[in-house]
Amino acid sequence: MQIARHIDSLQQELAALTMQGESLALVPTMGNLHAGHLSLVREARNLADRVIVSVFVNPLQFDREDDLAAYPRSFDEDTALLRKSKVDLMFAPDVGEIYPSASASTRVHVPGLSEALEGASRPGHFDGVATIVAKLFNLIQPDVALFGEKDYQQLLLIRRMALDLDFPVTVLGMPTVRESDGLAMSSRNSYLSEDERRRAPELFAALQEIEKALRAGSTDYAALQEKAAMRLETAGFRTDYVEIRNADTLEKPGQSDSDLVILASAWLGRARLIDNIAVFPE
Ligand code: PAJ
Repeated sequence: MQIARHIDSLQQELAALTMQGESLALVPTMGNLHAGHLSLVREARNLADRVIVSVFVNPLQFDREDDLAAYPRSFDEDTALLRKSKVDLMFAPDVGEIYPSASASTRVHVPGLSEALEGASRPGHFDGVATIVAKLFNLIQPDVALFGEKDYQQLLLIRRMALDLDFPVTVLGMPTVRESDGLAMSSRNSYLSEDERRRAPELFAALQEIEKALRAGSTDYAALQEKAAMRLETAGFRTDYVEIRNADTLEKPGQSDSDLVILASAWLGRARLIDNIAVFPE
């Protein structure tokens, strides 16, 4: 596996890797890799001749300095995992390489999708995500890019951006990888104490309870959301939101909407956990 820490070496490596017209898959990450990330890498291997994984903790998408500073970084472990996963190229630039000028201010903004839910809780977050992913698409020009459904709103936003800005890339979403007790894998799970870790699967369980009710025909969305939020509070979470939304637009659903997604975010100790379940008619 080659490692590029600079844009010029990235582009030299990419030219060599795709010299004979090989197809290229990109998996963008912020590192601290776990089985969720590695499932994207595995699928990338199946889909394209060459796989590149970017590892970059993007300051632009953090709305709090302390959150950025505390974000777990594990470069050596990440390198070993990517090597084992037979990745061709790891792109791990430092901040100055990606944002060389402190005064650079161009941002990619996806209206609508950026404002709701995660966007409301984390102002500016999705402009940061859209901007870094647009830069990575431009620098790397992959044929396909893979993202996790775990970050459902992010996946919709990136799809929208690629469509609106004519990026010649196929954006693929992959299922959420979970621990055996249902907790969605996340780099932020390491913030949980032992006791919090035991209670953390309640988040997925609360979403599953809503899913069951929706499948049984319930359309009282407000009551279902309220009940789940109460369940989370009882389990010691501080609920940010539990929302049933249209699966394509993330707008509040009407009674006749059939494709839904249940999304939630809640604090447990100092970890802010997110999860979701898409509910399509069977
Ligand atoms: P990060 O949180 O490192 O996640 C990188 C990719 O892995 C994202 O597409 C995310 O949805 C996916 N992922 C995370 N946990 C997962 C799980 N349990 N199962 C399946 N996929 C999972 O998301 C980001 O980084 C950044 O916002 C990024 C897109 C890299 C832009 O900076």
